[in-house]
Amino acid sequence: MALLNIRNLTVRFATATGSFTAVDGVDVSVDRGEVLAIVGESGSGKSVSMLAVMGLLPDTATITADEMTYDGRDISNMTRAERRRLIGREITMIFQEPVASLNPSFTTGFQIEEVLRVNLGLSKREARARALDLFRAVGIPEPEEKLRAYPHQMSGGQCQRVMIAMAIASKPRLLIADEPTTALDVTIQKQILDLLMKLQEEYGMALILITHDMGVVAETADRVVVQYKGRKMEEADVLSLFEAPQHPYTRALLSALPENATGDRLPTVSDYYSQEAGR
Ligand SMILES: Nc1ncnc2c1ncn2[C@@H]1O[C@H](COP(=O)(O)OP(=O)(O)OP(=O)(O)O)[C@@H](O)[C@H]1O
Ligand SMILES: [Mg+2]
Repeated sequence: MALLNIRNLTVRFATATGSFTAVDGVDVSVDRGEVLAIVGESGSGKSVSMLAVMGLLPDTATITADEMTYDGRDISNMTRAERRRLIGREITMIFQEPVASLNPSFTTGFQIEEVLRVNLGLSKREARARALDLFRAVGIPEPEEKLRAYPHQMSGGQCQRVMIAMAIASKPRLLIADEPTTALDVTIQKQILDLLMKLQEEYGMALILITHDMGVVAETADRVVVQYKGRKMEEADVLSLFEAPQHPYTRALLSALPENATGDRLPTVSDYYSQEAGR
C-alpha cells in the first residue's frame, strides 16, 4: 500500500470569468521512504495539487478525487481535528517562497518555537531546546544567535534552512518540498538539496519534490511524474525516464538540461513541435 495515494484529482477555481481547471485528473502516489519528483512548467498545477492534499487551498477551490488516502486513511473525509493531527506532523510542506513564508515581524526562533509548541505540544523551554537542535541539524551557522535574528537578517539560503527545520521538526513520514531551491543562488541550491536528501535518508521520510529542473530530478528522485497544463503526461522511474522519455514534453524538458541546452528558458510543448517541424 502506498503511503500517499491520490487518484483522479481535479481542482477547479471559481474566477471572475468563470471556472478554471488548474488540476485535471492527476494521479500521485508515493511509497514509504520514496523520493518522487513532480516536474512541469510554470502553471502546470504542481503547487495546487499538493496544496489540495494539505487542505490549504482557498474556498474558491473545488477539489474532487476518486481516492485521496494517506496510510490507508481517507484524507478528504477527515474531521478538522483528524486532519490537524496529520497535516503539519506526519505530512509537512516546504512552500515555494521561503522568505515570504516567514513572518518578517518575529524572530526565526520565535516562529519555530511556535510551530513546536502548537504542532507538537512542547513547553516553552522544550521548544527552545529543540529549536536549537533543529537549527544545528539543518546546518545554520551560529544557531543560538540566529534564533534571535529576524528573517531579513538572514540570507535566502538560511531562511530556507529555517523552513526545512520547521518541516522536519515532527519527524514527518512525508515531506512535500515545493521548488525548495528555485529562489536561491546556484551555489546554495546544491547545499540545500544535499541537506534535504541527507535528512530524507536519516529520517526515512518519503519526499515529494516539486521542481522544473531535470538536473535536480536526476540527482534525487526514484520516480518522476511529468505534469503539463494540469494533466499527468508521463510517469516513470528516473532511469527509464532519462533513457527513454515517452512523451514529447518530457523530451523537451530533457533537452533543457545544460548538456543539451540550446536556450536559457524552459521549452514548452509548442517549442518542441516547432523544432520537429523545422527539422
Ligand atoms: N488561488 C487561485 N485562484 C485561481 N487560480 C489559481 C490559484 N492558485 C493557482 N491558480 C492557477 O492554477 C494554475 C496552476 O498553478 P500552480 O501554482 O499549481 O502552478 P505550478 O505548476 O506550481 O507553477 P510554478 O512552477 O510557477 O510554481 C495556474 O494557472 C495558476 O494561475
Ligand atoms: Mg508552484
